Amino acid sequence: MSDLTRTTAWAALQQHQHAIAPLHLRDLFARDPGRFERFSLQAGPLFLDYSKNRITDETLTLLLALARESQLPEWIERLFRGDRVNGTERRAALHTALRHRDHSPVLLDGTDVMPDVRRVLDQMRRFSESVRSGEWRGYTGQPITDVVNIGIGGSDLGPAMVVSALDADCGPLRLHFVSNVDGADLSLTLRRLNPAQTLFVIASKTFTTQETLLNARSARDWFLAQAGNPSHVARHFVAVSTHRDEVVRFGIDPAHMFEFWDWVGGRYSLWSAIGLPIALAIGMDRFDALLTGANEMDEHFRHSPLARNMPVLLGLLGVWYTNFFGAQTHAILPYDQGMHRFVSHIQQVVMESSGKNVTRDGRPVSCATGSVVWGGPGTNGQHAYFQLLHQGTPLIPADFLAPIESRTPLGEHHRVLLSNFLAQPEALMRGKTAQEVRVELERAGLKGDDIERLLPHRCFSGNRPSNTLLFQKLDARTLGALIALYEHKTFVQSVVWDINAFDQWGVELGKQLARDLLSELSGMPARAPHDASTSGLLDHVRKRLPSA
Ligand code: F6P
Repeated sequence: MSDLTRTTAWAALQQHQHAIAPLHLRDLFARDPGRFERFSLQAGPLFLDYSKNRITDETLTLLLALARESQLPEWIERLFRGDRVNGTERRAALHTALRHRDHSPVLLDGTDVMPDVRRVLDQMRRFSESVRSGEWRGYTGQPITDVVNIGIGGSDLGPAMVVSALDADCGPLRLHFVSNVDGADLSLTLRRLNPAQTLFVIASKTFTTQETLLNARSARDWFLAQAGNPSHVARHFVAVSTHRDEVVRFGIDPAHMFEFWDWVGGRYSLWSAIGLPIALAIGMDRFDALLTGANEMDEHFRHSPLARNMPVLLGLLGVWYTNFFGAQTHAILPYDQGMHRFVSHIQQVVMESSGKNVTRDGRPVSCATGSVVWGGPGTNGQHAYFQLLHQGTPLIPADFLAPIESRTPLGEHHRVLLSNFLAQPEALMRGKTAQEVRVELERAGLKGDDIERLLPHRCFSGNRPSNTLLFQKLDARTLGALIALYEHKTFVQSVVWDINAFDQWGVELGKQLARDLLSELSGMPARAPHDASTSGLLDHVRKRLPSA
């Protein structure tokens, strides 16, 4: 693709931004009664209001022209039909096949992948049902009560998020997620568990990830310290991976391995056997509903016109703020306590996918790509970081998400939650003028200098953009659609920016250096010299490190 910033669409957007920058959202609403109807849409279980964005009809026309100039429709087709869209690894990114629901084939190099997908889904169903029902017994003959998923990144964040969002603790099993190589994570988790009733799911696409394998070995030592006989490992350790050989080398029976494939990216893998802890927690029927919700979003993304396509619109709005308003971060604010891990998962999806500084063919990018994704559940954030959203100097576009109905109704709680959820985007959009503040302070009995002194502090500029996503209830289908929405939004942006959304070479250098430093911490000589800071720190640590 030619340089994005030299396209006609880009130039037109730049010019348009100058025209739109002085306009206030409050005025755009005042002069356009149809704004909400025009700038909102339903896709499956999700309703999106994007009218509180700094856009006009012309902005959308220009953004859609940019999408077409970037060949977005063609790229969407390439994604779904299994082209090797991950060029640096020569891989397809067919996570959509994992949630493909009808009986049509999904071809990869001419071979239908669906029989394999269904075979593993069946295996997951049989296994999760036998563990949940108590039929699967541990080495003492007792049923399993606790499942520990050991994995990191995509082999942890997605499943952990879904399990906490869908109230797993209502099921017969308690789920635990261990990811950090900090021994505290595993030790504190195991402290409460009985090895005879614990099942470990070792989840790693490559089965070579240092943290996961070390945690898995320590978990096996802990287990064997009580179980004694290594043959008992078979009833208590299962693996999820694309690498059978590594699984066998670790000592897990391949009959207890759940396979997935190199065309599933780590951060897009919760729909595969990496979702096994989800099935164990909420049952395979609800895991199926999760897939169905994601599939509905896939169908919407693949077949809706760009102008009525939710991931496309959200992706383009992100481009609008990142590239034309200089926004560097994006807040995701779910008003649902169960979604407290949602942001961490989406953070990996977005930041590993978009954190790239070269185009698909290796040229330096000519514009900003990606943004820092952050946030957390409302209303907690309102009492912590919302001050920056309302009166800080950076422009921070935000997504507000909420269920209309609570899954855990309690008195007035949900109405209070919803009133806050509705109030925040309104406040961000509308702001408060000096005139409004003056009237308010006068009513409160303040006069003269006191009013003037407080005035600048009490004003809100407003004009701060947000999207609002509503859904009836946070059930499995809805959550599936929401996650797929953010996956596709991320893909849309990668197409516009002409970057590969499916590799992550940026994580490698740190891993390489850590390997060398580990041997140096154990007293081996340095393979290559370090800078003065790293050598100084290494020395400082070595002198104080208690001997193992
Ligand atoms: O280091 C980054 C990463 O490769 C992620 O992309 C991935 O999700 C995670 O590590 C875990 O990898 P694996 O599943 O192979 O252990």
